[in-house]
Amino acid sequence: MDKVRRIGVLTSGGDAPGMNAAVRAVARTALTYGIECVGIRRGWQGLINTDFVPLTRASVGHLLSRGGTILYTARSKEFMTEEGQRKAASTCKFLGLDSIIAIGGDGTFRGAQALSKHGINVIGIPATIDNDIGCTHYCLGFDTAANTAIECIDKLRDTMQSHERCSVVEVMGRHAGYLAMYVGLATGATAVLVPEHPITNEELIEKIRRARLNGFTHYMIVVAEGSTPAGEVARIIKEATDLDPRVTILGHIQRGGSPNARDRVAATKMGYLAVELLAAGKTNRIVCTHDGGFTDIDMDEGLASRKSMQSMEVNVLAAMTGL
Ligand code: F6P
Repeated sequence: MDKVRRIGVLTSGGDAPGMNAAVRAVARTALTYGIECVGIRRGWQGLINTDFVPLTRASVGHLLSRGGTILYTARSKEFMTEEGQRKAASTCKFLGLDSIIAIGGDGTFRGAQALSKHGINVIGIPATIDNDIGCTHYCLGFDTAANTAIECIDKLRDTMQSHERCSVVEVMGRHAGYLAMYVGLATGATAVLVPEHPITNEELIEKIRRARLNGFTHYMIVVAEGSTPAGEVARIIKEATDLDPRVTILGHIQRGGSPNARDRVAATKMGYLAVELLAAGKTNRIVCTHDGGFTDIDMDEGLASRKSMQSMEVNVLAAMTGL
């Protein structure tokens, strides 16, 4: 691989707290290595449209604590076509970009994989509150999003406790239940509904019944958005019990906010590592966490790996809820 001279960095897919901190780390590390750095705005679509902004040490100042992404983000249909990828590759040539660092989730990395076939060096940094990328234990944004959800659920619990009610709270995660399970464990939920370990309606009602037998007078049901819809869960509970559940969909509030310490530090380390890989002549890699440390994996291999929810989480939840 030729010496890297100019890197483009972009954020794509759903935003996640820590994306800005990763952009800052990429730009500052690149400049430390004497490599120029350009921010591509609006994800892969921005690369097609030559939508960019030069990044300097100063221009990425004050980004550590900022939520969202200053580079904007998008989900590009055009980039999913061969023609779109060809256009993006010619923008890279036009801007003199030999490498792209793509910050986002699974879809973002598939885009990077496609671009690499056009001779561009690519590195992925995992960032999604869903934490559903198979090759990495941790994705940027997850911890901040979990804490946002926890704060909301703690507040809901106060009012549910006063009124002796049942609350059904829907948590994001697309097709995955990692966020819901983590949040459920952290908030002492009566039940957590995740797509990876579905429970029957009877089991759900039994959990509420057992909680009542154990002396509880309010109930918190955490539902992953990829599981049964929260409104439907509330209907099932209402039909089978004397409870009249209140539904709360936490929604996009979980994606906003200033990244917490874990996300700021992880984003800084991942951004640094991404540039280090390129400077060392490596390409087509995903930065990831493994065994508590930061490492990297071949992009094709990383995208082929699957994540599974640990049965320990399910067992711990069962022990906590007495079922
Ligand atoms: O992938 C992140 C995520 O927030 C998912 O949890 C959710 O299903 C989806 O994005 C929502 O996407 P949008 O912002 O397009 O509504």
